[in-house]
Amino acid sequence: MTGQGHDSDPATGETFGAASRPVHGGVRPADLRALGLRPEDVLDFSASISPIGPPAATWEAMAQVDLTAYPDPECLELREALSRHLSGAGDANRAVPIERILVGNGSTELIHLLARAFLGSPQSGPRPGAANSALLFTPTYGEYSGACRLAGAPVISFDADKSPPFRWDLDEAVRRIKEGRPSLVFLCNPNNPTGVYLDAGDVQTLAEAVAGYGGLLVLDEAYLSFVADPWDSLGLVDGGNVVLLRSMTKDYALTALRLGYAVASEDVVAALAALQPDWSVNGLAQAAGLAALADAGYLDRARAAVEKARDLLVHRLGEQGFTVHPSSANYLLVDVGDGAQWRERLMRRGLFVRDCASFGMPTCIRIGIRPLPDCQRLADAMGELSAAGG
Ligand SMILES: Cc1ncc(COP(=O)(O)O)c(C=O)c1O
Repeated sequence: MTGQGHDSDPATGETFGAASRPVHGGVRPADLRALGLRPEDVLDFSASISPIGPPAATWEAMAQVDLTAYPDPECLELREALSRHLSGAGDANRAVPIERILVGNGSTELIHLLARAFLGSPQSGPRPGAANSALLFTPTYGEYSGACRLAGAPVISFDADKSPPFRWDLDEAVRRIKEGRPSLVFLCNPNNPTGVYLDAGDVQTLAEAVAGYGGLLVLDEAYLSFVADPWDSLGLVDGGNVVLLRSMTKDYALTALRLGYAVASEDVVAALAALQPDWSVNGLAQAAGLAALADAGYLDRARAAVEKARDLLVHRLGEQGFTVHPSSANYLLVDVGDGAQWRERLMRRGLFVRDCASFGMPTCIRIGIRPLPDCQRLADAMGELSAAGG
């Protein structure tokens, strides 16, 4: 299932060299112009974000920002608020000091900083005792391989089973990790695009394998806020070999602003901060992030909205004969036979879904969960298109 844009050795799954940029969801003006659509004619199901929109207080907070002042390059107030937010989550006794938190211009900036800090590059290099390579649990988010390739390191894809439920052989993964000693191991949990969510024991096993030679397990939890009953991963950071990535872009629908953070050991945070350009997190994003965190009930409301709309889509699309794969996250992987063709057909109706060819899953589309009426409209459209012969 090696994704689109990889130059890969089919025997080892290793990918090298410059290739095209990773493929993402989102609606581009060029697509709209080609279709003669206006932005207001379109519903975007291709990016998976909170379906309830940004917390109301974010607008007021942004209006107060002094646009003539540089933003705080250290994001001090936001890190303090995140420290309080995280310390109250999961195990209530756990304190997450601000020295363990780094804010980025989206979690994607942090992925690139990790690759630059811990893979071969003029400034730095692999972790002591580790090889200059990265192992990715695939199919997954395309930026991991994009960032590692830019850092000049070989990328090894560790593929999930090609058939549902798209699990990985974790014994084999541990063997490959111990043998190859990759400096970075990327695991997205829940995984994009399959929605597979590994439990605490499985992730702990991978963390121990990586810790055995001093590598880093990067646990990307961009979609964790939408999991119904998540386990507490913060404790993994204490061992020093796990980096958690979280996305406030996704959590609070701050997609146009971009905001993410890493939780890691002080050493890792310092190594990443040393490579981060000053002011990369702009003042509007910092203000909106602070206001979002102050809305204590928001994430519960967002999760409830996801569950309702996701259930509707599972039911309606299942009734129409599509294979809808179970998902712990705020998106659904749906086998439609020909993902590119369905994306085109729906796009002509102003409904943008993600074709999964770049994940190596050309028969599937990924549907980001939107508000219930939007999901009803998508289900209606898919039903009509199916009835009309696809
Ligand atoms: C797994 C994963 N991580 C991170 C991101 C990017 O999020 P951000 O906007 O925080 O960079 C995405 C976006 O699609 C994603 O799927």
